[in-house]
Amino acid sequence: MLWILPLAALILSGCSKAEWMGRQSAMDPKGPVAQVQFDVFMATVWLSLVLFVLVGGALVYAVIRYRERAGQADAPPPEQGHGNPLVEIGLIMASVASLVVIAIPTLEAIWYVDDVPEESRPASKLSAWYKGKVAPEAAGEVLTIDVIGKQWWFRFEYPQLGLTQQGKRSIPNEMVIPRGKAVRINLRSEDVIHSFWIPKVAGKVDLIPGRRNHMWIQADETGHYYGQCAEFCGDSHAYMLFRCVVVEPEEFAAWVERQKAPAPEPVAGSLAAKGKGLFAAKTCAMCHRVAGQFEAGGFGPDLSRVAARTTLAGAWLDHRDPAAQMSLDAKGNTEATVPVDPARQRANLARWIGSSGVLVDAAGKPLIPQDVKPGNRMHYYKMFGVAGLRETRTTLTQEEMDAVVEYLMTLR
Ligand code: CUA
Repeated sequence: MLWILPLAALILSGCSKAEWMGRQSAMDPKGPVAQVQFDVFMATVWLSLVLFVLVGGALVYAVIRYRERAGQADAPPPEQGHGNPLVEIGLIMASVASLVVIAIPTLEAIWYVDDVPEESRPASKLSAWYKGKVAPEAAGEVLTIDVIGKQWWFRFEYPQLGLTQQGKRSIPNEMVIPRGKAVRINLRSEDVIHSFWIPKVAGKVDLIPGRRNHMWIQADETGHYYGQCAEFCGDSHAYMLFRCVVVEPEEFAAWVERQKAPAPEPVAGSLAAKGKGLFAAKTCAMCHRVAGQFEAGGFGPDLSRVAARTTLAGAWLDHRDPAAQMSLDAKGNTEATVPVDPARQRANLARWIGSSGVLVDAAGKPLIPQDVKPGNRMHYYKMFGVAGLRETRTTLTQEEMDAVVEYLMTLR
């Protein structure tokens, strides 16, 4: 029996406080929705614990009280009865009662999570705290973000603030929201089922093709929250991450204005300017939009502010020192973030583009295996032509890629 002790120690070693409060811990709620979900979970845990002790205690009592005693091996079995109807009915009623006890807070929580607060109440108007320009029809509403799931990244749109796909400006992978404000989240998918989950703020709600789901979130502390797709969606499901950056309302307004502004032009004659030319010539611009420079693309992530983000590749490659950030995250302090390291950012851009099968040698053979995000579609695009499905590959040499990376680094 003693072998159980080291096994238990091994299993429970994962339950240190640092782990509980870690970057994707649902045990460390930072907003009302996550709090409600955590409360329902804990209510279920405590009730289950009481039942476990009662049932387990009765079992242990029966095993000890009615165990075989010395000299009883050949004794006849005791008299068998039908049972005790009072006890049986009593236990059924107790089971029903405990299910009701769990059902009440569960149903309450379901309604709470579904009903976007303040939406029906005129008192709280978006324009009352958001000082930037708000579409007239949006005043009087709670801030809305449309979340679109793609294989394997998230696109965020702010319809009231003019940041939409149709308005030729959307936000990939790093969703920014104001602190302490309820935000309505509309969820849909453009390919397969995904699931939206920010463990410390709220989750999980599925993004389902052909269907609109919604939820609301609110984060009460500023900081950097880790999100994750929580529904298997193909090759790179595990690498489909996102960030929720919570800032003060004034900072949020400034962020929106920055997103709307056209991307800065690279200096003429520079390596970045050469990269910009390649971005067009090598068809990157057919899928990726850069505000004010390349407006045609819409299939891939919007790159207008790609260098201003802390991550790349669906938030899978982080531009911050991972060891330093990990030790901060383990303390559960979402506020603390390590600054972006430009050298790491440059290396991540090169690795991501290279590993997408774009980077080739003189013979046209890919130089780096597709190891960042298996299955990603960056290196080719398909078109329906008269002759049927055509597949076209985009390729870059090392020099060309360096120039493109330099160009992307100017987009901030
Ligand atoms: Cu998207 Cu898993």
